[in-house]
Amino acid sequence: MTRIVYLNGDYLPENEAKISIFDRGFLMADGVYEVTTVLGGKLLDFAGHAKRLERSLSELEMDKPAGFDDLLEIHRELVRANDIEDGLIYLQITRGSDGDRDFAYPAAGTPATLMLFTQSKPGLATSPAAQKGIKVISIPDQRWGRRDIKTVQLLYPSMGKMMAKTAGCDDAWMIEDGHVTEGTSNNAYIIKNGRIITRHLGNEILHGITRAAVLRFAREAQMEVEERAFTLAEALAADEAFITSASAFVMPVVEIDGVAVGSGAPGPVASRLREIYIDESRKAAV
Ligand code: PDD
Repeated sequence: MTRIVYLNGDYLPENEAKISIFDRGFLMADGVYEVTTVLGGKLLDFAGHAKRLERSLSELEMDKPAGFDDLLEIHRELVRANDIEDGLIYLQITRGSDGDRDFAYPAAGTPATLMLFTQSKPGLATSPAAQKGIKVISIPDQRWGRRDIKTVQLLYPSMGKMMAKTAGCDDAWMIEDGHVTEGTSNNAYIIKNGRIITRHLGNEILHGITRAAVLRFAREAQMEVEERAFTLAEALAADEAFITSASAFVMPVVEIDGVAVGSGAPGPVASRLREIYIDESRKAAV
């Protein structure tokens, strides 16, 4: 079955979707994106993703090419057209092109490029990795200073993922001024004496939609949450560690820089949070 994608108002077979070589997303990484999870044919936390998208656009003074209802309908149509049970929907908006390369933004009124595609991932919520946990390495955080904006400039995170692969690991946690910022494509957490510790919001990390939901569920379950920066040394001495993202949900981290975290197996708090997150998100899916 050929995948149907969305581009600027049209639903097309993926090989018929074409954009200009002058598109600023391609030349300047001048664009933003969102990744929304589909479970059981329904969207998880669509409202959260739509809200963050709006913020990313406004921080970059980019026009919004479609409203909330239109975006929701496009997501749903792609789920239908591609018969997605479990998977992801990738949405990207770039500043488009006025037909040449220029550092200055194109004239006002130049249409943005709006593109979405699906990735089918049957059984996404029952990933075997969650049973085993993942291994991470630490690397310096060499990204730009506005990581709160979800831009498509993902070269350093890609390099980080490759460094992790080369080291026989699954991901990298990035370190700045001695403190963990986040994973290459996820937020980072440790658990010490029953307290869940994760970096506070700011320009240094992406404000994860999964993070917001997980912290809400944790507080509702009377777990203690501390939103503050933590050091690599604290992480190495933690009882448990985990990451969150739209695609990984809550994923235990069992090793950091070759050192076992806690028992070296997924811990009870991370496992419970994963269960709660998946159950509650499924219930609220649209
Ligand atoms: N990544 N931090 C970074 C740097 C991210 O790229 C992501 C998401 C997150 C988690 O955000 P959320 O919970 O809203 O997915 C944190 C997506 C999944 C990606 O790039 O594929």
